[in-house]
Amino acid sequence: MRTIDWVDGAVELVDQTRLPGECVMLRIHTVSELVAAIQRLAVRGAPALGVAGALGVVLADGDPGEIAALRAARPTAVNLAWGVDQAAAHQGAGREAVLAAALRVRDDDIAACLAMGERGADLLEGDRLRIMTVCNTGGLAAVERGTALGVVQTLHERGRLAEVLALETRPLLQGARLTTWELARMGAPHRLIADSAGPYLLARGEVDAVLIGADRIAANGDTANKIGSYALALGAERAGVPFVVVAPESTIDQHTPSGEHIEIEDRGDEEIVTVRGVRVAPEGTRALNPAFDVTPHDLITAIVTDKRVIRP
Ligand code: MRU
Repeated sequence: MRTIDWVDGAVELVDQTRLPGECVMLRIHTVSELVAAIQRLAVRGAPALGVAGALGVVLADGDPGEIAALRAARPTAVNLAWGVDQAAAHQGAGREAVLAAALRVRDDDIAACLAMGERGADLLEGDRLRIMTVCNTGGLAAVERGTALGVVQTLHERGRLAEVLALETRPLLQGARLTTWELARMGAPHRLIADSAGPYLLARGEVDAVLIGADRIAANGDTANKIGSYALALGAERAGVPFVVVAPESTIDQHTPSGEHIEIEDRGDEEIVTVRGVRVAPEGTRALNPAFDVTPHDLITAIVTDKRVIRP
């Protein structure tokens, strides 16, 4: 199954807000529908956003206002703007050329995820690996296979995976809803943990490597990823556990010198004071909701891309 694709003149994507209850495909015909889908996280994850951006340019049909709105739909994952730019660069050559460029972004992502899976699995030592991860970095976050969870899939296919400990990933529970769903489909052993249990389980010696994805990697290696990643990096360093970022080259942003220049999306009060629509804090409670954090490069053991291994 492809998470996102171009089918019969429209963008088709899995509505991730409905998982794990139902797996429903959405057909999207306009840029405003696509922007809404991106903002409510029906489509999410940096590589999938890159493909959504590229395919969205086909729907925009040269309208500069629509292209700008699409590019800015979410600020942290550089892949969205990158994907838009890849397709928009071909506008002068007509709609078919834009579509061909967008399909190249899709196909390159599929190839990149396969390559990252192999390279990441080659990098890790050991035969019965216990992996900790946060958020969702699987096929749902890309077109197929994904980044950090793509490495997990390759380890599993090679018979080298003992278990995955998946953080539930409050507030939107991408770990609990999506990562467990994907791990179950691949038949990989896994247990779900509360986010706050991550650093303690690292300290207790229950993890051989932390694998995460990335939304933007600054030129010096500082990495923005789902909130909670930084706490895992601190815990991993203290426990002497490798902390590995897995992301395609398109997530590296050479125009952003370091982490403090990365715009971190704040998603507002509602997602914190409610859980899946149920209020958990008193009426009137205010919240702070950074959707991502930044892990400084000196806490990162390695960055695995589709082309290389970087040791920041
Ligand atoms: O807010 P989300 O669900 O889009 O956040 C996604 C992440 O933080 C992922 O870890 C990241 O995009 C890498 S996906 C392969």
